Parts: sequence; C-alpha cells; structure tokens
Amino acid sequence: MIVYFSGTGNSRFVAKRIAELTQDELCDASVYTREGKGAEFTRPGRYVFVSPVYVSAPPRVFQDFIRKSRFPNNVRAYFIMTCAGGMGGSPEYCRRLASEKGFAYLGTAQVCMPQNYLAFFKTHTPEENREKVREALPLIEGIADYILNGRELPDPGMKVWEYLSTEMIIGMYYKDFMRDKAFRTTEACIGCGRCAAVCPLGNVRLEDGHPVWGGRCTHCMACINLCPKNAIEYGRMSVGKPRYKGPDKF
Ligand SMILES: Cc1cc2nc3c(=O)[nH]c(=O)nc-3n(C[C@H](O)[C@H](O)[C@H](O)COP(=O)(O)O)c2cc1C
Ligand code: SF4
Ligand code: SF4
Repeated sequence: MIVYFSGTGNSRFVAKRIAELTQDELCDASVYTREGKGAEFTRPGRYVFVSPVYVSAPPRVFQDFIRKSRFPNNVRAYFIMTCAGGMGGSPEYCRRLASEKGFAYLGTAQVCMPQNYLAFFKTHTPEENREKVREALPLIEGIADYILNGRELPDPGMKVWEYLSTEMIIGMYYKDFMRDKAFRTTEACIGCGRCAAVCPLGNVRLEDGHPVWGGRCTHCMACINLCPKNAIEYGRMSVGKPRYKGPDKF
C-alpha cells in the first residue's frame, strides 16, 4: 500500500510511479485530512508513506493522519520524502513515528523535486523544473527496487543535530509562519473554485464567488500555485514568482 500526502503534486507523482513499479495500491491521505480523520487500513505487509518535506520534517498533518489511522499487525514501513533541497531531520521523525505505531522501520529516502514554496523561496522556470523531475526518475526507480526486494533503504547519514535543530524551531514555525492570513486574490479571479478543490485540508471555500481562507492552513501552496489564473498572492512575497503547476503539467 502506497499512502501519500501532496500539495502541488510532487509526492503524488513519486507515489504513482512507485505504485506502477511495485504494483501496490494507492491511497490519497488528503481524502482523510480534509475531514481531519484517520483511515482504517486492513491490508497486511508493506506500506510506503510518501510526502513532502516541510521544514526538514514530514508535514504534521500527515504525521497526525498516520497516528490516527488504524493498521494491521506486522506493517513493514518505508518513507519517501520529496523535497526541494534536502530532507534534513525527516528520517528521525519517520523512525520515531514507525516505532510509535509498532511498524518495522525500513528506512527513509529523499527525492529532490521542484520547489513549490513560493511564499518564502524562489521558484523556477518550467524548463528547470522539468530537468529536476527528469533527474529524479532513476532515483525513484532505484527506491522501488529496494522496496520490491524487501530491502532496507540505505542509511541517509542524517546527523543528530539536523533533527535537534529542527525540533528547536518547528513549533514556532508552525505557530507563527504557517498561516493563511497573507493570502489574497487579485481581480484576475474568475471564481472557478479550483483553489477550494485542491486544498488538502478543506481550508478554502468560496463566498460570493471569491475564495476565503479558514485558518486551518499547512502552507502546502496548492491553492496559490494551482490557480489557473494565477490570481492568488501571498502578501508581497509571491509577486512576480513563477507558479509551480506540478510534475504532471510538463
Ligand atoms: C511549507 C513548506 C516547507 C518546505 N520545507 C522544505 C524543506 O525544509 N526542505 C526542502 O528541501 N524543501 C522544502 N519544501 C519544498 C517541498 O518539500 C517540495 O517542493 C515538495 O516536493 C513539494 O511536494 P508536493 O508537491 O507533493 O506538495 C517545503 C515546501 C513547503 C510548502
Ligand atoms: S482558483 Fe484562482 S480563479 Fe479560481 S476561484 Fe480560486 S483564486 Fe479564483
Ligand atoms: S489554504 Fe492553500 S496553502 Fe493552505 S493548506 Fe489549503 S491549499 Fe494549502
């Protein structure tokens, strides 16, 4: 079973490719995170959890989803983190989560994909993004090979300080920065509702034909990137930056 969480499609893309190669079933966690619920998994055996890296860790909403979900006994768990530069302390979060759930932990791998965090970072041109995805393909195949053969993923060589430094800032980051107050729409908005449809937390609704953000945001950047009219801005930080439409759009 491949269980994934994705804002702008990178993790979904990796999850789908792994599923093709391993012939595993896919589960989109956003079906549950929209409702704030966990899932009831019954299929025994291997589980592959795929998600983006948020601030050097798996998204809290995805960790909470796994915590709330029920699994059969004897789960063998792999974790795959998509990131723009590096997964930082993520392996330690995944290892701890696996131990909490009683899973056999088979490792964490990173796959570098295009940057989607245009609220705070530079985003890239479609050509640059295409090249990054192209480079990721053999790596994804290599990871699938480990999974198919039931082998432990190679040790990513994470330093303890990477986990500890993430732990020091992450609570503050979620509280003070992962907020939706800075989102606004421009006159280009046509009221199509795509921003609401793509939010994995169900945090956007249309009121009088215009999106309203509800205060339960995890900064996944789906609404702002995937708006077909590029009619959403995040304060001044996003102005003039290319929107990232996801790896399926090339
Ligand atoms: C809130 C947020 C935090 C992020 N933090 C990191 C990070 O710490 N390190 C990194 O390399 N990329 C970081 N990124 C980039 C994403 O992890 C990367 O683009 C990912 O592939 C997006 O996956 P998705 O398209 O499935 O949502 C961050 C992106 C967001 C939106
Ligand atoms: S996706 Fe863009 S155009 Fe459509 S309602 Fe949302 S902001 Fe408006
Ligand atoms: S409001 Fe936008 S950035 Fe926040 S979780 Fe929803 S889609 Fe992601």
